[in-house]
Amino acid sequence: MVEVLDNWELRMRSRYEGEAFASYLGKSDFRNQSVISSRPVTVVSSTIHTCHSSLLQTSGRVTASASDDEYSESVPPSPTSSDSSRYDALSLEDLDIIKTIGTGTFGNVVLAQDTETGEYSALKILSLYDIIRMKQVDHVKSEKNILKAIKHPFIVSLKWYSKDEYNIYFLMDFACGGELFSYLRKAGKFTVSTGSFYAAEIVSALEYLHFKSIAHRDLKPENLLLDKEGHLKITDFGFAKRLKEKTYTLCGTPEYLAPEIIQSKGYTKAVDWWAFGVLVYEMLTGSSPFYGDSKFSTYEKILSGKIEWPKPMDSVAKDLIKKLLALDRPKRLGCGKNGADEIKRHKFFRDYDWSEVNRRKLTPPIIPKVYFEGDTRNFDSYPDTWKVKTVTEDELELFDDF
Ligand SMILES: Nc1ncnc2c1ncn2[C@@H]1O[C@H](COP(=O)(O)OP(=O)(O)O)[C@@H](O)[C@H]1O
Ligand SMILES: [Mg+2]
Repeated sequence: MVEVLDNWELRMRSRYEGEAFASYLGKSDFRNQSVISSRPVTVVSSTIHTCHSSLLQTSGRVTASASDDEYSESVPPSPTSSDSSRYDALSLEDLDIIKTIGTGTFGNVVLAQDTETGEYSALKILSLYDIIRMKQVDHVKSEKNILKAIKHPFIVSLKWYSKDEYNIYFLMDFACGGELFSYLRKAGKFTVSTGSFYAAEIVSALEYLHFKSIAHRDLKPENLLLDKEGHLKITDFGFAKRLKEKTYTLCGTPEYLAPEIIQSKGYTKAVDWWAFGVLVYEMLTGSSPFYGDSKFSTYEKILSGKIEWPKPMDSVAKDLIKKLLALDRPKRLGCGKNGADEIKRHKFFRDYDWSEVNRRKLTPPIIPKVYFEGDTRNFDSYPDTWKVKTVTEDELELFDDF
């Protein structure tokens, strides 16, 4: 345990005492925890160093990279409520911590309020101690660099980031609608029209990420949030990576892993289209196509190439899912030379005007109930327990370039 050094830490500590990352076990359904291989990781081409030079600043307000402009004609920026210059001067002391709204494998996310402007945000807090023990140092740096470089209406935006001697902090838009996962579990399954709405917004976001050579690598309903209007926001860039060539790291969530990840053959951004196929199946049927009682049986099912179809099953949706869940990567929809267009042109999206999708013009099928900006009713309750853990001076140096 550490000595508490300032007011902010005092506030934090009064809220978080106990065991940090064990708290995720309190989640109603933890089958979808992200995993990362403990075996040695072979990375053929590490492209993290090729990030735009604006990404090299050490902390502070976030600026989008130049190449965003190439995309901005078709995709408008996300609406943001606050004057961005506020973030130039922001410090942790300016944030009041209201409540824990999410816990994952590597992080705690809290609702925070700016004491000066009153604006609510989601603050993701990652303990340096846990990052080091879980061998996530490179991933967390990549999470920051990627979040800084992207701006899209269906992706959470990073407003500011910081670190101190205990934690790393990412301040993001608060997607107050909560996880798509909760709505899906409540509904059992979505109709084709509801599922295709979320699918379309995901296609739009993935097309953008892949255009920027970024693979998300952990697409699942827990990482898909709804904003207050009911549009989708993809979060959790903890495993996202800039990929120009193949990579080999086994990471993601078992039921969403593409076969080539399990087989350690080396994989590309195509793994996101596989995960997208799993997601569409899950939205429309209410369960995963590869559910197994152990990770091993899940992997066996994925590699078998067999998918069980509930009856009735919409035949057009079935055709799309089959083409996304093609074991053979070159045959997978979205992986040919026309990329995401192959998916956008599929009959499943025949009623969609893609420029309307990109401009957030479609009417969302679910409008989250929120009574005020900082309303957390759409989030599960989590024990506000968190032990502040110290790292050594040498360990702290691992984050010098953060
Ligand atoms: N911007 C956000 N707004 C609202 N909730 C969020 C936001 N980002 C994350 N969360 C919540 O916190 C959870 C954990 O965050 P995530 O980034 O997925 O961490 P992990 O890498 O540990 O899974 C998410 O599943 C979601 O419920
Ligand atoms: Mg997550």
